[in-house]
Formats: sequence, structure tokens, C-alpha cells
Amino acid sequence: MKIFVKKGKLVDTKSQAIILPLFEENKKLSGNALEIDKISDGLISELINNGDFEAKPSQISVIYTRGALPAQRIALVGLGKQNEFNLEKLRGAFAKIMQHLRNLNIKEAATEINLDLLPRKKDQMAQAVAEGSLLGLYQYTPFKTVGREDLKEMEQLTIVADEKDFSLIESTIKKAQIITQAVCFARDLISAPSNEMTPAIMAQKAQEIAHRKNVSCRVLNKAKMKEMGMNALLAVASGSNEEPKFIILEYAGGKKSAAPIVLVGKGLTFDSGGISIKPAEKMDEMKTDMSGGAAVMGVIMAAADLQLPLNIVALVPATENMPGGSAYKPGDIVKSYSGKTIEVLNTDAEGRLILADALAYASELKPAAVVDVATLTGACVIALGDDVIGMLGTDDKLKSEINSAAQTTGELVWELPLWESYHELIKSDIADYKNSSGRAASTITAAAFLSKFAGDSPWVHLDIAGPAWTTKDKTYIPKGASGVTVRLLVEFLRNRAQR
Ligand code: BES
Ligand code: MN
Ligand code: ZN
Repeated sequence: MKIFVKKGKLVDTKSQAIILPLFEENKKLSGNALEIDKISDGLISELINNGDFEAKPSQISVIYTRGALPAQRIALVGLGKQNEFNLEKLRGAFAKIMQHLRNLNIKEAATEINLDLLPRKKDQMAQAVAEGSLLGLYQYTPFKTVGREDLKEMEQLTIVADEKDFSLIESTIKKAQIITQAVCFARDLISAPSNEMTPAIMAQKAQEIAHRKNVSCRVLNKAKMKEMGMNALLAVASGSNEEPKFIILEYAGGKKSAAPIVLVGKGLTFDSGGISIKPAEKMDEMKTDMSGGAAVMGVIMAAADLQLPLNIVALVPATENMPGGSAYKPGDIVKSYSGKTIEVLNTDAEGRLILADALAYASELKPAAVVDVATLTGACVIALGDDVIGMLGTDDKLKSEINSAAQTTGELVWELPLWESYHELIKSDIADYKNSSGRAASTITAAAFLSKFAGDSPWVHLDIAGPAWTTKDKTYIPKGASGVTVRLLVEFLRNRAQR
């Protein structure tokens, strides 16, 4: 769907549906709702006064105007109580109303960012409206062939704005479209099954991103990784017939001398567990074990399209984890790219192995900051639930930057401790470290393991095992891949770049 910004007033706008978000307290209408109500001889107030519409969060009512307005319908959507309002409610409301209109087979709608109704900065409001609408309307359909003609799609949302807000809203919407496009790009990659999203195909997607200005892509193949000594990554890949790829996407938008921000994303295109094989139930969901990799690719895409004045590198170690005659085995010891040795006690703790090599590579780039994103541990879902990102790291400032970006984007982040005592748990009897130390605090021990390879730069690890994939619809995250951390990291980068 495209969003257009147009000068004018909602009351005068010809549209299949004009969308009016309302608070529970709006029994006495004001602003454009009042104006529309007056012109339509009380269409809205009649509904409200009779108790049909209470403006509960995401409650919806669609009224035909029968010629009282140029618009064919008024679509009311509830925002809940005014004092409980936040941008998440606005995203949710717009996701719900747009999905509702799409289901009615409506192709086009209009709305207005009205300050009387929405007590926040207009650009934040406009961004949330765009995000809720575009992310909520996401559908993954490339493999549907039967009944394709019945798929419904919204084509256009018009945001009307007055003269003085027009340029602010227009530029905000442009940015929001860039950012949501990157989220949907990540969702597409994650949703694709592993036979259609192999390491080689992921690398090809990265090459496509590199068609942008100031973006370049290099892909290391297996022979190159062997030569370089990326043996932890190669060990994970050894059971698979798919060749692993080490993807290096670089966006050079900053000064030549400026240290890069390096984003590392776990790119397990399928995690069977390897010889320490997973149970059959839900194993299909392990096609999403490259969600971190897809996210950091999306972030580079958005950063380039937004022309952020920063240097950013995305690293995606991409491989399958499969059992096979040449697969790595419990008890094996590998010498990682950093030179440190790792005893593999569980081949299903593969994410930290490929990240170990990627983080060691990252540290060679003398980065200003390193953030890794990974569907790393089932334990993170047990600790924090399906919706929350686990955060661990070594740098308080970087953690607080991530936290404040998360406040804005509505992605939920919670920090777990990385105390000295946890580091004891990952020491191996016969190698430097072991890749698994059992169930106790295993999200933390995984991060403690990663810290050994992250070098001295400020580093934060985000465990997205919970929120990367959802099995039920959540307002603007339809069932499936969420694209979580794309918006979060773009916001973090925009704050660094001060735009
Ligand atoms: N990719 C999984 C973690 C995961 C589990 C992500 C569920 C999303 C949903 C990871 O590679 C894994 O298997 N972790 C193991 C580690 C254990 C063997 C130490 C886990 O969490 O069970
Ligand atoms: Mn695993
Ligand atoms: Zn995994």
C-alpha cells in the first residue's frame, strides 16, 4: 500500500472511508470529528450517544454517510482512555481499522493527524499511523496459488494535512515507508521456508540490497572461510549440503575516518539441532532461526534509503545446522576464528558458535559499537515470554541507547545480568570454553560465551527467540514473522545520527 499526503481537510475529502480515531472521553466531539458530525447531521454523535461506540481500544464502527459528505463511509476506531494513550495504541488502532477495511474489500481510505485528538508530536503520530497501517496490512502470499484472486489488498491511504503541517508530515511519512519496507523485507526472508531461503539465497538478497548508493556487499564462501579459519561457523555448517555464506554488507554514509557501527545477525536458515537433534514438534519454526540476520540486512537497507550519515556494517553468518555423515558432533573441539578453542557439548547450541566467529571478525573492524541480534535461546522465551527481547552487554551507554530507542518503537526490551560468576559456567575442562552448560541461566551463559569473542568495543546482544515469530495475531504484527529489531535498530541509528 502507498501512503500519500495531501493538503486539505478530511471533511472535504472524497474517499471510500475516512478514518477517525477517537478517545473514550470524546463523548463531546471536537476538532474534525465535530466538524464531520455537524455536516453529517449527527451521524457520529448518534452512534456514541446510543452507546454503540465507546472508543475502547481498537473498537471499530463503520457508518455510511449517504451523501452527507464527499466520503462514502466514516470509519471510527477506538483509542481507549486518553490518559492511557501511547504510540503503541495508535499503531494498534490503525492496524485494526486498516485490516477491517481491507476485509470489506475497500481499496482506499483517508485520515488526518489531528492534534486535538492525539496529544503527541505530529510527526511521531504520523509515523505511528503509517507503521500501524503498513505493518498491520502485511501478508505473506508468494506460495498461495489456489484462490489467489480472492486475496484482498488495500492500495492507498491518504493523509490530509493543513498547510502548516504538510511538509513535516510528508517527510515523516517518507521515512516511515522506508522503515516499514525494511521490516517487511525482513519478514519476507524469515517467512520463506528453508528450501527457499538457503544461505546462498540470503547472500543473493544481500547483493540486491547493495544496488543502493553507498552500499557494498561481499560474500565469503566456504573455501575462503577455511582459509581464514572460521572453524566454529564451518563446524556448524559441516552436516549440511548447503554451502555456508558469510555475508558482509557495508553502508558507507559517514566520514571515511568514522568508526563503523557493526550489526551482527544470526543466520541459521534452518536449525534442526544437528546431531543433538530437536524434537519434531515445531521444528518447522526453526526456518526462522535467521531472523537476526534478516533484521540486520533490513536495517542496512533502511539506513541507506534514509541516507544516514553513519558507517554501518552488517555481518550475517549464514548456514544450516543439520545432522549428517560429516556433521560436527558432541565432544568435538574447534578452533574459532579468534584463535580460542571451543568444546562442543551440544550441537544445538550452534548460534553462539557462528556468532563467535562473526563477533571476532567484527572486532577487527575497530567498531564504535557492536550489536548482535539472534534467536539464540529457548530459555529467553521461558524467562521473558513471547513478546520480549532479552538484552545483555558490556556497555551501559549502549544499553541505554537501545532502551530509549525501544521506548519509541514499542519493541519490548528487558536486560538480564552478565555478572562475573556466570563466566565460570562456560569454562571447559579441556578447551577454552564450552558451548553449553546446561539449563541454568542459559540465556545468560550464551551471552557470556559471546562476550569472549566480542573484543573490547561496546557490545550489546539482543536475544529475540521470543518475539521473532508469533503464532497469534498481535495488532500490527500479523501471525508469523515480526521483523523485530529492524525498527529498534533504525531508531537507535537515527538517534546516533541525530535525524
Ligand atoms: N535457535 C535455537 C533457539 C530457539 C528456540 C529460538 C526456540 C526460537 C525458539 C537455538 O539454536 C537453540 O537450539 N538453543 C538451545 C541451546 C541449548 C542447547 C543450550 C536452547 O535454547 O534450547
Ligand atoms: Mn539450536
Ligand atoms: Zn538456533
